[in-house]
Amino acid sequence: MLDFTYFAPTKIHFGRGQISHLSELRQSGDRVLLCYGGGSIKRNGIYDEALRVLGEAGIQVFELDGVEPNPRIQTVRRGVELCRSNGIDMVLAIGGGSSIDCAKVVAAGARYDGDPWDLVIHPQLIEAALPIYTVLTLSATGSEMDAFAVISDLEKNEKWGTAGSALLPTMSVLDPSYTFSVPARQTAAGTADMMSHTFENYFHFEPGSFLQERLAEGILKTCIHYGPIALAKPDDYEARANLMWASSHAINGLVSEGCSPAWCVHPMEHELSAFYDITHGEGLAILTPAWMEHVLDERTAPVFARYGRNVWGVGETDDMAIAHEAIRLTREFFFRTMGMPATLREVGITSDEHFAVMAKKAAAGSKGSFVELSEEDVEQIYSAAL
Ligand code: NZQ
Ligand code: ZN
Repeated sequence: MLDFTYFAPTKIHFGRGQISHLSELRQSGDRVLLCYGGGSIKRNGIYDEALRVLGEAGIQVFELDGVEPNPRIQTVRRGVELCRSNGIDMVLAIGGGSSIDCAKVVAAGARYDGDPWDLVIHPQLIEAALPIYTVLTLSATGSEMDAFAVISDLEKNEKWGTAGSALLPTMSVLDPSYTFSVPARQTAAGTADMMSHTFENYFHFEPGSFLQERLAEGILKTCIHYGPIALAKPDDYEARANLMWASSHAINGLVSEGCSPAWCVHPMEHELSAFYDITHGEGLAILTPAWMEHVLDERTAPVFARYGRNVWGVGETDDMAIAHEAIRLTREFFFRTMGMPATLREVGITSDEHFAVMAKKAAAGSKGSFVELSEEDVEQIYSAAL
């Protein structure tokens, strides 16, 4: 196991009714910028409930609404301006990863003199941020408990992840009942996203991180068990609760510290979103089995076999046979059990015209990963997924 420093300071209030803890925002001041998306929080009542608690705590609310899935830098700039012109003390995101990521970069942008896009492409410039609070409404990205944010400039076909300890939320409210209204398509995409975060950390050659591997397998089994239950019965509290806690732990360092490989499927997906504005989790589900097949060889087979044995209970003895079966089961889970789109064509990507330029950028991101990918490798994976 490698040496590491684990820092996960976000206070979590988990369970029904925990939104009452928004009164704790008072510790950071009395003017909050509330960041949210296209209106789901108004339809399901969370918005009204939040305003009631904040009002009772004497907190004045300013709003950044309309945060897009794949949040845009233009929206971040609007948020930074609101912070500057209203003397905002803290930001509160209510929503999924997009609202949270946008709020994080707004919070850092409010403490930075230049354009917030600098903070997206140069994470080392993130030195400070306004305090960040979140109320999670979609289990997927883990942004509620991690130091990352992903922002797009679709006018330039750019989508990049940034990171910094200043982006770690101070406190997050995780009420699984808030995810009852998440549509089936987003429930599936979110489940695929947290599985992909776990895969990115789980497939590596670093010896001795037995505990992290078993924790990762537990998260994967949780997704495989509860994902279909949440689809069949959206208000199943037990399923929504387990998925919610899995999303936070897939990416908060618990399963990555000590083995920390670079991620390679995410950089490939971010290029798909940058060029075609597709749903992150769907892109990951489409790419993952194609990536697994592409990197499977004699050297990687034992690692895929460990996945097949421990997560899927495949009973064969030959590593290569187990690996093939595990990939088949992964494919079947995403595309049959969870009903997700299985090809890039199904999400509207009908030609390979941008694959070469996308592959160039994505291959650079795979340095230090389980299997480093060349531009040609990435192009082949995109073509296989088409
Ligand atoms: O915008 P609203 O109206 O809120 O609707 C959203 C949106 O349409 C809807 N939704 C969310 N909660 C709901 C709900 N609908 C009904 N009921 C609810 N309770 O779901 C749609 C998708 O929301 P979004 O926030 O975009 O989804 P997600 O949480 O998957 O976030 C995706 C973004 O996060 C980035 C992705 O790249 C993408 O930009 N990621 C962030 C990461 C991080 N910060 O660590 C890591 C990830 O790998 C990922 O890259
Ligand atoms: Zn992801």
